[in-house]
Amino acid sequence: MAKVQYGNRHLLYPQPAVIAGANVNGKPNYLTIAWCGIMQATPPLIYISVRRERYTLPGIEENGTFSVNVPSTDQATVTDYIGIRSGKNIDKSEIFTNFYGELETAPMIEECPVNMECRLVKTIDFEGTHIIFVGEIVQTHVNEECLVDGHPDGAKIDALIFTTDGYYWKLGERLAQAHNVGQDYKPG
Ligand SMILES: Cc1cc2nc3c(=O)[nH]c(=O)nc-3n(C[C@H](O)[C@H](O)[C@H](O)COP(=O)(O)O)c2cc1C
Repeated sequence: MAKVQYGNRHLLYPQPAVIAGANVNGKPNYLTIAWCGIMQATPPLIYISVRRERYTLPGIEENGTFSVNVPSTDQATVTDYIGIRSGKNIDKSEIFTNFYGELETAPMIEECPVNMECRLVKTIDFEGTHIIFVGEIVQTHVNEECLVDGHPDGAKIDALIFTTDGYYWKLGERLAQAHNVGQDYKPG
């Protein structure tokens, strides 16, 4: 198959479109983040990659806490708005119903089906465009109606997906069970 060299660019599909939160100057502020991921299971670590100039950034550093909120597809418009307006210019503290958990300084969004409150455990600065904040998840809050048999259900959460070409997506069809479908595969 012919390959085109597309340059040294990111093309990792898909990405989550989450909303990270922190208190800035004593008020909740939120920004949309696509560069976010799970790092390890125990203790549970997650990272968000934040451009240096973001208004939210000093709030994460000062409080040593932040939140990661997972919006549903029906929250695409407000998620986009949060990601194109800076707290430098507008007050984003009353767009959502804010709540706090045990960390007390990591504002979370009532309207999002999943919220993770995180304690900042490491800041990684490669001296490039972004600063990477690694957080230990101290508690995950899930809407009760998104649970099936006590477990979070991907279809019910209906997480907003982002692709690098600049579009929001909805989850598609469930394909196969992980750690299972490959069991009987015969290479070659
Ligand atoms: C879909 C989407 C994904 C984004 N991903 C990131 C990201 O991973 N890191 C980042 O620093 N900014 C990202 N942004 C941009 C910020 O959300 C945006 O600049 C926001 O207005 C910053 O808010 P603040 O200045 O109040 O912190 C993204 C925006 C959108 C719309």
